[in-house]
Amino acid sequence: MPDNPHPVLLEQLKAHLEYFAESGIDGFAPKAVSGALKLAASVRDKSKSRAPRPQQPAPSTQTSLFAESGPASVRDSSLEEVRDDLGDCRRCKLCQDRTHIVFGSGNPQARLVFVGEGPGADEDRQGLPFVGRAGQLLTRMIEAIQMRRDEVYICNVVKCRPPGNRTPQEEEVAACSPFLVRQLAVLQPEVVCCLGLTAAQTLLQVRTPIGRLRGKIHSFRGARLVATYHPAYLLRNPAAKRDVWEDLKKIRSLLSSS
Ligand code: URA
Repeated sequence: MPDNPHPVLLEQLKAHLEYFAESGIDGFAPKAVSGALKLAASVRDKSKSRAPRPQQPAPSTQTSLFAESGPASVRDSSLEEVRDDLGDCRRCKLCQDRTHIVFGSGNPQARLVFVGEGPGADEDRQGLPFVGRAGQLLTRMIEAIQMRRDEVYICNVVKCRPPGNRTPQEEEVAACSPFLVRQLAVLQPEVVCCLGLTAAQTLLQVRTPIGRLRGKIHSFRGARLVATYHPAYLLRNPAAKRDVWEDLKKIRSLLSSS
């Protein structure tokens, strides 16, 4: 290990090791640890020297999801515009029990966007995505690839909490997902990470099980899309963290190579 590792690097290494410890891996060769510190340092240096990304115009091709979102000519120039259009949404029955609409949060210039399924109880209470237990695990997943939570953008397929955290129904996804697609069109991330089946199937417009969607690199409107298991699933099935780690490494290398 270097004599004077940077405190931020140590924090990142700690998050990395905690993620592995939770996966049941409790031993590391000293060489691997110093390698991880070097990797973290190079990623930090690279991201510091990167110029701000110019906002690209939204792609002109319309997906069926876009077509459902309202006027076919819709071209948002900001997330605020999308949020304003969502308004005090009553487009589906999820509005009946919600406390807050959970639109999304994070860096509007994010190169990486995480998409979950829908808010849970904590998110509904606070109006922010992934702030409960699954959210804490998501934060550790982000830190395990040497990123900070405030560097990425996080949102969901449906913006209101499904009662009892049930899976959102087809008509709820149909009513809400056009707003997700519009968020992504504004954000123009390089990589979209779908957390769980609902996000992956919605954006890819397939019915394939998550186990077959993960482990590959897909495309979504000019972005690379990686699907992985939902952090809430990982809380119940910690053994799946090994697969998720493989997916996270894919994301890291996609971001490092562009
Ligand atoms: N699960 C999700 O899919 N989204 C959240 O925001 C929180 C938990």
